Amino acid sequence: MTDALPLRAVLDAGRRRLTGSDTADPAREAAVIWAHAFGRTPGEAALERDRAVAAADVERLRSLFERRARGEPLAYVAGRAGFRHLDVEVDRRVLIPRPETEGLVSGVLGRVATGTALDVGTGSGCIALSLAAEGGFERVVAIDRSADALRVADRNRRGAALAIELVRSDLTSSLADRSADALVSNPPYLSEAEYAALDRSVRDWEPALALVSGPDGLAATRRLLDDGRRVVRGGGWLALELDASRAGIVGEMAAGLGWQDVSLESDLFGRERYLFARRSATS
Ligand SMILES: C[S@@+](CC[C@H](N)C(=O)[O-])C[C@H]1O[C@@H](n2cnc3c(N)ncnc32)[C@H](O)[C@@H]1O
Repeated sequence: MTDALPLRAVLDAGRRRLTGSDTADPAREAAVIWAHAFGRTPGEAALERDRAVAAADVERLRSLFERRARGEPLAYVAGRAGFRHLDVEVDRRVLIPRPETEGLVSGVLGRVATGTALDVGTGSGCIALSLAAEGGFERVVAIDRSADALRVADRNRRGAALAIELVRSDLTSSLADRSADALVSNPPYLSEAEYAALDRSVRDWEPALALVSGPDGLAATRRLLDDGRRVVRGGGWLALELDASRAGIVGEMAAGLGWQDVSLESDLFGRERYLFARRSATS
């Protein structure tokens, strides 16, 4: 039977459990896990170190520390991830939003912020919710093939109190012709070989559907470039996140399919990560 303990003892036990696991800063992560579990900030851990933690809460924290020590990503253990101005719920049903993807949203908002925006492969809903929060769109639609992902996006929609629509679809296949002013996607873009070689901290935990896209990593991207011509209105924009090693090929594919004003832009780490392209205004 566990006794109530002072917070400092609980966090110290967490730090010791995380030391030696694949954790860069065990003391900080123990505080982050406590903060997310109890709706506090990590800084409050120091302020409240003498506060008693009830026995049931000690047990709950022990099990969270144990999950982290066994390699589960911190965001899944904490149940939350930051994305731009949002704090979204995440679990193993969705990709953990990456900081690189925040730049995709900036690139979209710099080009188009009214009309209808479609976020294809929404996962946690982070892109669609950011577009709804920061743009002036009349309509934002979040699409995923995974019913599980859409359940997470729905929780985040309620949490953020933002009016996005959720649609289950295989990429753009069920979307109407000329329905988008902005078609935005961070699709799966790893090849099967790259996926097999991924660090286990990603491959063992995050959904394969969110990461891998055929033998060359381009299956979803190819389809978005192709069918996107049907879905995006004349003068509207396509914005895709991509793998830097294939940026040149994707740019050539877009130009070859008649997309205009094709540009490749770099992420915050200096790697070519985004394609922006415009549908001909007269088509
Ligand atoms: C790289 S994740 C991006 C998630 C989120 N937009 C983000 O940036 O964090 C790709 C998403 O695409 C979804 N997906 C994969 N294949 C799909 C398909 N054929 N149709 C619709 N969604 C798909 C996955 O379920 C996953 O949620």
